[in-house]
Amino acid sequence: MLSIDADRLVADLQELGQIGRSKGGGLDRSSFSTADTEARQWYMSRCAEAGLAVKIDGIGNMIVCSPNVSAEVASRPAVWSGSHIDTVPSGGQFDGALGAVAALECLRRIHEEGIALNRPVCVAVYSDEEGNFSSLLGSSALVRGYSRDELDAMIGRDGDHFVDTFEAAGGDIDAATRTRIASGSLHATVELHIEQGPFLEQLGHQIGIVTGIVGMGGGVVTFRGRSDHAGTTPMAVRRDALVAAGAFLASCPSLATSTSSRAVVTCGLISVEPASANVVPGVARVTIDFRDPDADRMVTLETKIIDTARSIAEEHHLDVDFDFERTIQPAPLDAKIQGMIEGNAKARGLVASRLSSAAGHDSQNMALVAPTGMIFVPSIGGRSHCPEESTSWADVENGANVLLDTIIQLAT
Ligand code: GLV
Ligand code: MN
Ligand code: MN
Repeated sequence: MLSIDADRLVADLQELGQIGRSKGGGLDRSSFSTADTEARQWYMSRCAEAGLAVKIDGIGNMIVCSPNVSAEVASRPAVWSGSHIDTVPSGGQFDGALGAVAALECLRRIHEEGIALNRPVCVAVYSDEEGNFSSLLGSSALVRGYSRDELDAMIGRDGDHFVDTFEAAGGDIDAATRTRIASGSLHATVELHIEQGPFLEQLGHQIGIVTGIVGMGGGVVTFRGRSDHAGTTPMAVRRDALVAAGAFLASCPSLATSTSSRAVVTCGLISVEPASANVVPGVARVTIDFRDPDADRMVTLETKIIDTARSIAEEHHLDVDFDFERTIQPAPLDAKIQGMIEGNAKARGLVASRLSSAAGHDSQNMALVAPTGMIFVPSIGGRSHCPEESTSWADVENGANVLLDTIIQLAT
């Protein structure tokens, strides 16, 4: 049975895991930042060493396809595998990196062994999966595209405009608006990822077969009141935007729990203006990330969030406005590919169980255009989006081997 080179895969993950590492121990590889650019260059150099050519599409997705296939094979719909190498601020070394590096390892093994393919195998490393500028940016561009107006309106968490950061990293904004996957060019996609939750570890199982991926919505809620002197303005006449935002945020947990046991609502970022200890805040902006695995409940949850913010704003004599992204829909994953993953895990003597993903992934976009599967491996302590995020090297190897089997099964 063909297997991946575990030592090479581990060495690659460890090397990539040093790029963008901060003093606090986490990884800071925001999309199109200097560290993300360094990680992309490292990835491309690993491809070059393996004799694999990298194409970069208009939005910056890196695509690496099997060389040495006949023109006839090259013309057929391809099997894609990959993930992302950008991170959240102070993120971990496995989220995204595992799937991006393991897919490259699979392609290297296929190439080294000269496996005869019936269809091309391509690795995709998607831009800005973590949504600093827009949720699942790279795959969203592929499946639905972005207008110039949408790209112009994108602002990152540091206040930088997408257009400026993207162009500074070498991107071409006109090419970004033209990015789309050609219809019919994909046969299937499969992504390896860490679970980012505790389920597999608690069960003591090595492989997760992902049945579906959660829906994701949200954006920025802005409360607008009036800035005033913090000493001289009586409490009764204030229009304090942050007090209203605080009341709104305090209501968010119950908005989630009253919707479903799977719904979640998070505020991860707050900013106020003018931002001074002795000034009543005139403007308060809070980010809202809401999720649920059910499409109808996503609509219910969004309506509740908006209605609650409006009624709190009214109570506090403020205005409120919403700058929400287009909701990324929940996606069921392909049943046939789930069966393949199950069979491949079993053939390697691994215990697998089915689970749904409460994290977002580019695979949920790709599932709109091709049969798509995802393989999970356990996360130690269920931790992710933090420096402590970890997975054992044995689980990394197992997951990469099941990925290799599944890619070969799809492509031969
Ligand atoms: C991506 O990691 C997400 O679930 O936000
Ligand atoms: Mn990820
Ligand atoms: Mn992530």
